[in-house]
Amino acid sequence: METFDAITKRASVREYQSKPIGKELLEKLVDAGRRAPTARAVEPWEFVVIQNEETLNKLGQIANTGRFIKNSASCIAVFCKDTKYYLEDGCAATENILLAATALGLGACWVAGDKKPYVDEVAKLLGVPPELKLISLISLGWPKQQTEQAKTRRLSELIHWEKIAIKEEE
Ligand SMILES: Cc1cc2nc3c(=O)[nH]c(=O)nc-3n(C[C@H](O)[C@H](O)[C@H](O)COP(=O)(O)O)c2cc1C
Repeated sequence: METFDAITKRASVREYQSKPIGKELLEKLVDAGRRAPTARAVEPWEFVVIQNEETLNKLGQIANTGRFIKNSASCIAVFCKDTKYYLEDGCAATENILLAATALGLGACWVAGDKKPYVDEVAKLLGVPPELKLISLISLGWPKQQTEQAKTRRLSELIHWEKIAIKEEE
């Protein structure tokens, strides 16, 4: 799939078929993640790939904004060392994985990690040492149906050439 097609087709997919995702594809997704840009080239990330049904179930219970993880085929948890730009790096890796998933015909949804009260519980469940920060949980599966990207703002209202013009009072 062309890069721009993947960007425009990517959407948050939260309903999946029960079909599993092969190990090779999951490896491809992590490979896409690790190829993201990283400030100061530190590559602070670790990716935990979860396929075990019981663990997916528990993740869905712990991450209350990602209950659908329990019905996913797999989940990739993105963790980063506490570097200066850990959040930017981890988010870049997450988006790479979402785009790669789209290109492979998979459905995926970014479930919040950083700032969520459940980060420690997720880390404990996955055996992750406390020095690593949870950036995101990416639920994955073969989509049940086609999903459109949920965008509400038009390009014309958010693109500004050179400066943001101050609107005149009406
Ligand atoms: C940082 C971040 C955290 C998100 N966390 C969640 C989440 O916890 N649960 C969820 O269902 N969707 C989550 N999303 C997905 C957004 O809800 C989704 O991207 C948004 O509604 C726009 O829809 P689209 O992805 O189809 O364009 C998150 C997205 C981002 C970027």
